Amino acid sequence: MGKKLIIANWKMNLTVNEASLFVHRLDDLVGKRRGVEIVLAPTMLAVQPLHLQVQHHHFNLAAQNFYWRDHGAYTGEVSASQLRGLVQYGLVGHSERRHVFGERSKDIRSKVQAAVRNGITPVLCIGETASERADGETADAIHDQLIGGLANITSVEVEHIVVAYEPVWAIGTGKFAAPRDVSRAVKLIRKQIKQLFGALAAKHVRVLYGGSVNVDNASAYLQIDGVDGLLIGDTSLDVRAFAEIIKKADVIDKAVARKAA
Ligand code: PGA
Repeated sequence: MGKKLIIANWKMNLTVNEASLFVHRLDDLVGKRRGVEIVLAPTMLAVQPLHLQVQHHHFNLAAQNFYWRDHGAYTGEVSASQLRGLVQYGLVGHSERRHVFGERSKDIRSKVQAAVRNGITPVLCIGETASERADGETADAIHDQLIGGLANITSVEVEHIVVAYEPVWAIGTGKFAAPRDVSRAVKLIRKQIKQLFGALAAKHVRVLYGGSVNVDNASAYLQIDGVDGLLIGDTSLDVRAFAEIIKKADVIDKAVARKAA
């Protein structure tokens, strides 16, 4: 079992200066937490300036979005090839991209492929809507989004990606999923990946939970078997709360390491 992966998705919040100040404060609060990989997804404007700063502090960066073509006449877009070397991760298929900006499976799988092609680890976000959940269609929604997102990559490439299970109804709503339901969804994700890409891919793929994670509920998710970390929106904007969650993840990692020894 690897380190817990904790990703802050700041969305369209924090100026470049605020983001830089956040990194300083976070470093003061968490110091070296070797059991946790900390990833920050700032506004695109802050990626370049934060790139040097985070190296001193042992944080990694993620792009919140990017375009799937490497270059060309695509006004306003930033490509994965332009982000290469600046970020280690790239969010793909976040529910806000799917539902506010109308991204379809075709766009999402092209972005997953573009990230892989450019040495960026895609974080494929999937999850059912409230009505799919009410209609008992959670498993189908997960299945369709996995097939839709991963169709262009190989089993070996799937081993190295991250899947974030984020029920749409839980994002930014304060309504978080019951750990028992998350456990079931994460098992389902690995089962479906096993069927599609084989046992090794299912074993190695990292799976996160996201959706209204806060200081009080974080530990419960981190302790679920098969959950490798968290994708955090609102709470990640509060540096003290975010640092608290990182400390909790570090403690859980140490406890697991002790058990395994
Ligand atoms: P939230 O957002 O933590 O504010 O629910 C999670 C996300 O959008 O990834």
